[in-house]
Amino acid sequence: MLKLSKVIFLTLLSVFVLTSCYRGQPKKKPPIHLIPDMDSQPRYDAQEYSSFFQDGSTMRTPIQGTVALGELKEDIAYHQGKDERGNFVKENPVPVTLPVLRRGQDRFDIYCAPCHGRIGDGNGIVVKRGYLPPPTLHQDRLRRIEDGHMYDVIKNGIRNMPSYAHQIPVDDRWAITAYIRALQRSQNAAIDDVPEEIRGKIKK
Ligand code: HEC
Repeated sequence: MLKLSKVIFLTLLSVFVLTSCYRGQPKKKPPIHLIPDMDSQPRYDAQEYSSFFQDGSTMRTPIQGTVALGELKEDIAYHQGKDERGNFVKENPVPVTLPVLRRGQDRFDIYCAPCHGRIGDGNGIVVKRGYLPPPTLHQDRLRRIEDGHMYDVIKNGIRNMPSYAHQIPVDDRWAITAYIRALQRSQNAAIDDVPEEIRGKIKK
């Protein structure tokens, strides 16, 4: 037989446990909020109605003739890969250095290699699983296209290739462009491209 004290204890315990699980019910009063910090404050949410502004909109448009800090993007060659006439720039506006190439390689292997393959032959892992195969980057046409065109493909995508503007910031787009040039050269090099001291080690 259970002792009375044990029965009382178990009853209380089960009441406690059961009520602590009692959640998700609508209540009239707001929950007790011991330390409110700055959790509730008068503010507007995006897209909310405003009774303050005449047009009733909380979100304001930029004042005419102004540009937000850092949004000027005056250097159109750098930001759009084009010149004033709208033609693709021939040369990468970012000076190509070893760290830039390394960064380009790093980003290429992450963002482009899944489709284009690590060497740019268009045989990436995604293609082996059935994605539309991209062209090899080692065809003459793509060897000759402007650096600006390459930048534009990353920024805006092209035909079946999606845009990578959100994943890849401007500097990295140029770094990848520089790296693709190195990759193209690596797959189409002449013996004269190899430093003389190591030419002997290469099998022709
Ligand atoms: C999801 C797969 C995929 C990824 C990732 C991808 N590409 Fe592509 N890419 C394609 C496909 C598919 C095409 C062929 C597009 C067409 O002609 O329809 C293509 C075409 C291209 C071309 C040729 C454009 C031309 O003028 O014909 C270049 C250059 C290129 N991609 C560069 C890149 C670079 C650089 C990256 C990484 C930032 C990248 N791609 C990432 C699928 C991809």
